Amino acid sequence: MAETEDTAPSYPIPRAAGRPLDPPPLLRELRERRPVSRVTLWDGRTAWLVTRHEDVRQALRDPRLSADVGHPSYPFFSEGQVATRDMLRSFIRMDPPEHDRHRRMLTPEFRVKHVESMRPGVQETVDRLLEDMIEAGSPADFVTAFALPLPSLVICRLLGVPYADHDFFQRCSAVAFDRESTAGEIRSSREQLTDYLARLVAAKAEHPTDDLISRLVTHQEAAGRLTRREVVNTGLLLLVAGHETTANMTALSVLDLLRHPGQLELLRERPELIPGSVEELLRRHSVAHNGLPRVAVEDIEIGGTTVPAGDAVLLSLAAANHDPRVYEDPDRLDVERNARGHLAFGFGVHQCIGQPLARLELQVALATVLRRLPGLRLVHESPQEPDCRHSMTIFGLHSLPVAW
Ligand code: HEM
Repeated sequence: MAETEDTAPSYPIPRAAGRPLDPPPLLRELRERRPVSRVTLWDGRTAWLVTRHEDVRQALRDPRLSADVGHPSYPFFSEGQVATRDMLRSFIRMDPPEHDRHRRMLTPEFRVKHVESMRPGVQETVDRLLEDMIEAGSPADFVTAFALPLPSLVICRLLGVPYADHDFFQRCSAVAFDRESTAGEIRSSREQLTDYLARLVAAKAEHPTDDLISRLVTHQEAAGRLTRREVVNTGLLLLVAGHETTANMTALSVLDLLRHPGQLELLRERPELIPGSVEELLRRHSVAHNGLPRVAVEDIEIGGTTVPAGDAVLLSLAAANHDPRVYEDPDRLDVERNARGHLAFGFGVHQCIGQPLARLELQVALATVLRRLPGLRLVHESPQEPDCRHSMTIFGLHSLPVAW
C-alpha cells in the first residue's frame, strides 16, 4: 500500500513544548502503533523509521543495511548535507570490508586499557577548567567554561591538533552539523575544516610528533595503507565526533541532575553510582537524536515489515532507548537503574570507537563537578525552556547558565 503524507509524518519529529529533554511524544506513539513506519524527509522523500529496541539493535548488526553515504537513497537531513556528501566520506559512512580496514588501524588507540592511561591527564584538565571557572566567578555559562573545552582539549591532545585553534574548528563544525545552515554555509565550513586538517597533516608528515595523526601518517600512510586524503578525513571525523558528542552529553547530564535534586544528592552521597549514572544519562539523552541513517541493499524484514532494497532507513536510538519493553518507566531519570544495553553509542560494526574515552570524560567530569561545586544551581532559566540545540545533528545545549 502506498503511504501518503498523512501517514508519513515529517521527520525529524519535534519535541513537545515544555518537555525538551524527553523524546517527542509522536516517537513513542509510533513505537507502540507502527514500530517500523514511513516518515517524510525535508526533500519529500520517505524513509522507514525503526523505533523498538530489539528491531534497532538487530538492524544495526545486519549487513543488508548499508551506511555508505554514496548510496543514491541515503537519507540526509538537509540540502546542505547532500551538497557536501563527498566530504562526508570517512569510515563512519563506509561498509565492510573498506570500513573495517580503516577502523582496525585505530582500535589500539581506543582500547579501554590505553584510554584508562589517560585518566590522570583528563582529571588534571577537569580540575584546571573548574578552577578557572570558579576563579572567574559565579555565575558562568557551563557550556563555554567547561562542557565544551573539556572534550576539545582531550581530543586535541590525543590527535595533536593545536587547541589554540578551537574557536575556528568549533565554529565550523557547529555550522556543518546544523540543519538550518544553507548549503553554501555547510560547504564553506567543511572546506575550511578539510583545508585546516590537510595543512596540519602535511606539517606532521614533515615533523612527526607523539600523537595519533602523526602515527597515521608515519605508520599507515607511509606503508601505503592510507592515502593522504584518508588520513585527513579520519582526523576530521575524530576531531568532530570527539568533542561535539561528549560536550553535549556533559552539559545535558548536569542540567538533568540539577532538575532532579534527589538524584543529584544520591550521587553526591554515593559516588560509586557515577559510572552507572553515566550509562543512564547516555540512555536518557541519546544525543544522536535523529537516528542513524542506513539504506537497505537487499529486501529485509524488520520487526515484521518488509523494507524493499534501495529504501532509506532511520534507526531511532532515542526511541529504542526509551522502549518500555526494556526499560521500566523509561522517561524517568533513575541513576540506580541498570541501563546496560542502551544504544546511545550505536551497535554493530559502527559502534562508537570513542566510547571508552567518552565514558572516562563523563565519569571524571560528573564526579568532580559534584564534589567541587556543592552549591551548583541553575540561573536565568525558566525550568521548562533550556537553550536546546533542536536543529543540530547532535542534540544538546547551546548554553547552560549556572551559579554556585
Ligand atoms: C557521549 C559521547 C558519544 C556518543 C553519544 C557517540 C555516539 C556515536 C554513535 C551513535 C556512533 C554510531 C554511528 C553509526 O552507526 O552510524 C558513533 C560512532 C563513532 N564515534 Fe562516537 N560518540 C561519542 C563519543 C565519541 C568520541 C569521544 C569519539 C572519538 C574520540 C568518537 C568517535 C566515533 C567514531 C570514529 C565513530 C565511527 C565508528 C565506525 O564507524 O566504526 N565518538 N558514535
